[in-house]
Amino acid sequence: MSGRFITFEGGDGCGKSTQVKLLAEYLQSKGIMPVLTKEPGGTPEGQVLRQLLVTGDKDKFDAISECLLYYADRRNHLNKVVWPALKADKWVISDRYADSTEAYQYYGYDKRVDISVLNGLYKIVAGDFKPDLTIILDIEPEVGMRRSFAKAETMEVKELRFESRQMEFHQNLRRGFLEIAAREPERCVVINADADIETVHRQILRIVEERLGV
Ligand code: TYD
Repeated sequence: MSGRFITFEGGDGCGKSTQVKLLAEYLQSKGIMPVLTKEPGGTPEGQVLRQLLVTGDKDKFDAISECLLYYADRRNHLNKVVWPALKADKWVISDRYADSTEAYQYYGYDKRVDISVLNGLYKIVAGDFKPDLTIILDIEPEVGMRRSFAKAETMEVKELRFESRQMEFHQNLRRGFLEIAAREPERCVVINADADIETVHRQILRIVEERLGV
């Protein structure tokens, strides 16, 4: 069976990492051993970029600098992890990919960076390559924020640079994800993430079965 590229997207605290893990376990039970990865930070070099991006003052980079850093991480991630795995016919599940850049750096920042910059960077970095399926976990920002801050309590290095932004930022990025999904319905599926873990997982399985036949 040939490889597939599945991406998970959503606002902070939407429960992506839990759902990625559960989907991976399901695929394993079907004899598919997926490669689990993430952005930012899916490679050792990317981990250094991640530290720069997710910690510290919320205004330390402007929107364009941030896009360039995310795209540097993405290029390295595609070259070193995603493309080699797909070439070897493996399935790859990534916790975030390019829709996050559009949602956070474009919609979140109230379109301070021109969309043509993002589209141009995508083309340079990934060409015509796209995920086979993108699952967008949709949640009210207030609920997501509460979950994120609770999780940060248990972290050694607190990754709260984006969480510390105004609620308007989170509303914007939620709207961004929904607009991306409406624009590309053949690739994206929106799932209500304000439900218990098992309910969300079952919906994801239904989509994966419908769209990818597993
Ligand atoms: P992530 O590890 O998914 O954090 P969380 O589990 O809190 O959702 O992502 C780290 C942060 O990076 C998250 O706040 C979103 C942000 N991000 C962007 O702003 N642009 C991007 O292109 C990506 C991939 C992530």
